[in-house]
Amino acid sequence: MIELTNGSDVMELPNYKEARKRNTEIVEKEYYEINDNLINIGLNKTYHVKTYGCQMNEHDTENIKAMLEQLGFVEEVDIFKADVVILNTCSIRENAHNKAFGMLGRLKHVKEESNKNMIIGLCGCMAQEEKVVNDIMKKYKYVNFVFGTHNIHHLPYILDKAIKTKKQVIEVFSKEGNIVEGLPSKRANRYKAFVNIMYGCDKFCTYCIVPMTRGKQRSRDKDDIIKEVNKLVKEGYKEVTLLGQNVNAYGKDLNTNYTMANLLEDVAKTGIPRVRFMTSHPWDFTIDMIEVIKKYNNIMPSIHLPVQSGSNKVLKLMGRKYTKEEYLELFDQLRTIPNVTISTDIIVGFPSETETDFEETLKLCEYCKFDNAYTFIFSPREGTAALKLKDETTLKEKEERLYKLNELVNKYFLESNQKMIGKVVDVLVDSKSEKEGMLCGYTDTNKLINFYGDEKSIGEIVKVEVVDAKTWSLDGKQK
Ligand code: 5AD
Ligand code: SF4
Repeated sequence: MIELTNGSDVMELPNYKEARKRNTEIVEKEYYEINDNLINIGLNKTYHVKTYGCQMNEHDTENIKAMLEQLGFVEEVDIFKADVVILNTCSIRENAHNKAFGMLGRLKHVKEESNKNMIIGLCGCMAQEEKVVNDIMKKYKYVNFVFGTHNIHHLPYILDKAIKTKKQVIEVFSKEGNIVEGLPSKRANRYKAFVNIMYGCDKFCTYCIVPMTRGKQRSRDKDDIIKEVNKLVKEGYKEVTLLGQNVNAYGKDLNTNYTMANLLEDVAKTGIPRVRFMTSHPWDFTIDMIEVIKKYNNIMPSIHLPVQSGSNKVLKLMGRKYTKEEYLELFDQLRTIPNVTISTDIIVGFPSETETDFEETLKLCEYCKFDNAYTFIFSPREGTAALKLKDETTLKEKEERLYKLNELVNKYFLESNQKMIGKVVDVLVDSKSEKEGMLCGYTDTNKLINFYGDEKSIGEIVKVEVVDAKTWSLDGKQK
């Protein structure tokens, strides 16, 4: 351990050179254990964890919360009143950064004014960035501890050290860690659960920071996954979402022939009423997977298949490893799954994207008529290959493209929803809706529906008749 003159205990700092490396060695498995003498460090103290970013982060937060509760901490809903505050951050675009730094500024103010003993921690993808951690060491001394995505299980020790030494404690691994089994989880939802099936990503799309912040692809042992799902079934969960940055590549890093199609089938066989999975990369989506989805009623007919661009030139520069034609071929095959809905992600304003390239994206959307799409303006990220590409398009032009794209895709969302009117759909009821007197939940095709129904159905899968359609949701009544 290096003791810095600025009062930080630095156990390990993020290092992009290390993060970029991919070795072929199989990753080991380890089991989470907590030292008994830490069990009481949170007694009579409260915590709040704020999450930014994707489902992967949401699930990490479930683990973080459960670890804090093992230490005796109790959850506080008001972030500014908690004794320990952790920001679980995202690096994907500049605005995710800005949000987290904005929150740090507000926390600083509260720490100076009203909650002087507040302990502040930062983790997640931003913690894996060299520049962020250097800035925190230099300019954000009030941040008490930083840990990364590979050492979440070290939180009890890092927090204990930060409390005892009163120094800024930093531990961020750049080489991916082992797969850690046995982490506790405080699940946010009683009926729907996230289950990690793999960590990291080896695709290196040129715009994407994830291979740097989440490390090399590591698939979890299938037996551990099935065991977790079986336990969820016993506990009464109705839905699992199998999580990974690129779930279709599941198993490729293990020395077995067991694939995502095999895993999907085995998860479906556990009898859990609903199976979802995300995110898919078109490159690894196999016909076997499509067959398995068709074969099992409990694998939901709703696929998220990011396309990113409709221009072959841009796709090549993005390092996506497929052409528009290949994407459309897969898309057409997916459409043979009965009732399927397909959603996507699209980036506009990638360096060198011309108006003609953008029009190709529009044309692709006219063909695909996506049921949902997440659209973004390209955000240059330090540590990615696209950062070095020349970009002559102005922000104003990019904003205009995004506006035009959104107008088009929104039209198709509404059309897709309108086709549902009069149909009776299966809905897993989540909770009371924000709409007075209504409940809300998701259809098998992953559409949000508000409906009049029986409150006792919360947590159940019920039949709902669709009576109206909006761009982002449906309205209905329980049958
Ligand atoms: N700029 C803009 N959008 C990005 N995404 C990933 N990296 C960037 C970036 N640098 C988008 C992609 C991805 C989704 C999760 O976020 O569309 O599929
Ligand atoms: Fe954000 Fe990507 Fe990290 Fe998820 S994996 S938190 S989207 S940077």
